[in-house]
Amino acid sequence: MPLKQLKIQHIRNLSAVSLAPLSRINILHGDNGSGKTSVLEAIHFLGLTRSFRGSQFRHLLQEGQTSALVFAQADPLGHGANKPLGVERTLDGDVRARYAGQTLGPTELAELLPLQVINSDTFDLLDGSPGVRRQFLDWGAFHADPAFIQHWRGFKRALKQRNSLLKCGKIDPRMRKVWDAELIHYAELMTVQRQAYIDRLLPDFEATLAALLQGVEVRLLFSPGWDRSKGLEALLAESFERDLRQGFTGLGPQRADIRFKVGTLNAADRLSRGQKKLVVSAFRLAQGALFHRLSKRACIYLIDDLPSELDERHCRQFCEFLEASANQCFITCVDPGLLSRVWQPETDVALFRVESGTLMHEGAPGDQT
Ligand SMILES: Nc1ncnc2c1ncn2[C@@H]1O[C@H](COP(=O)(O)OP(=O)(O)OP(=O)(O)O)[C@@H](O)[C@H]1O
Ligand SMILES: [Mg+2]
Repeated sequence: MPLKQLKIQHIRNLSAVSLAPLSRINILHGDNGSGKTSVLEAIHFLGLTRSFRGSQFRHLLQEGQTSALVFAQADPLGHGANKPLGVERTLDGDVRARYAGQTLGPTELAELLPLQVINSDTFDLLDGSPGVRRQFLDWGAFHADPAFIQHWRGFKRALKQRNSLLKCGKIDPRMRKVWDAELIHYAELMTVQRQAYIDRLLPDFEATLAALLQGVEVRLLFSPGWDRSKGLEALLAESFERDLRQGFTGLGPQRADIRFKVGTLNAADRLSRGQKKLVVSAFRLAQGALFHRLSKRACIYLIDDLPSELDERHCRQFCEFLEASANQCFITCVDPGLLSRVWQPETDVALFRVESGTLMHEGAPGDQT
């Protein structure tokens, strides 16, 4: 279990709160505006130095404060020993992350604490722009293959150079050749890794979806961003005049996407709201299951308002899936109702009551009765 205790300072309405002892499944309940989502944001901040709600740090930082700090006793690598992990960020832009006495860069931190968020924005996996799906895909490829990040960075650099040459309008043919070769090289490498990741993920996705939602078959189709049977080199040459007119490169991995289909229709047009929630959750949970199989490490799931959109049966199935998984989960809800009684007695579950920015540990479900 990655996180054993947590201290949060100056995140939204959480001035200084502690969560301890943490369990594998942690349920945070409380009224609207009490601070439940803020706790999830604090954990996200610990893994990625930013919130999942908007990109501006000053919105996450408690009003009137100049720095935020989240500190944990953690065993993210599953070594059986807790070590201190802390992230501090100031309003003037300083970010410091330390684990076991060592300073970490953003990539090392992201590798150390793999996080998955399931909230109302997760619907964007079906309804949103392709960028959201590429981010999802790249999270998986990043955690599945250590070489992916180098290829991704190489590709981004080449694309940026090519696009700035296109924007100038006049391209030296030798320069174009150099950057095209670099772009094609990394585009191929990262696309092979993306495809390999999707191929590995598919069985997990199907199994997870079958556990969460019966009677709906969803197919996943990966589209790499160009017609690979024609080859990127030929296509870049073919579309060069158009790229020049537009001032950017139109084809390549920057246009990759995943399509979700139910029968012949897009899942976004075909499924109900609750069904969509279960499909996108299955997608994220499948990532955690695959991550665990490949690395033997657990993911942390931040699930905001789990019961919303779901009827009791589907909510129960969702919890049963989490219970059987290896993940550490932080689940918020307004009314703990079902979420306080759905677990098997042997499951390690803790309830926390959140009230106006304070947290009370209520023990395991059933301790209160
Ligand atoms: N930068 C900030 N500084 C101080 N308080 C803030 C800041 N940003 C938001 N808040 C307040 O923090 C409180 C907690 O918000 P949060 O979104 O965590 O509530 P919640 O318990 O998840 O509520 P809901 O059930 O409505 O989702 C809210 O009252 C909000 O107005
Ligand atoms: Mg909330």
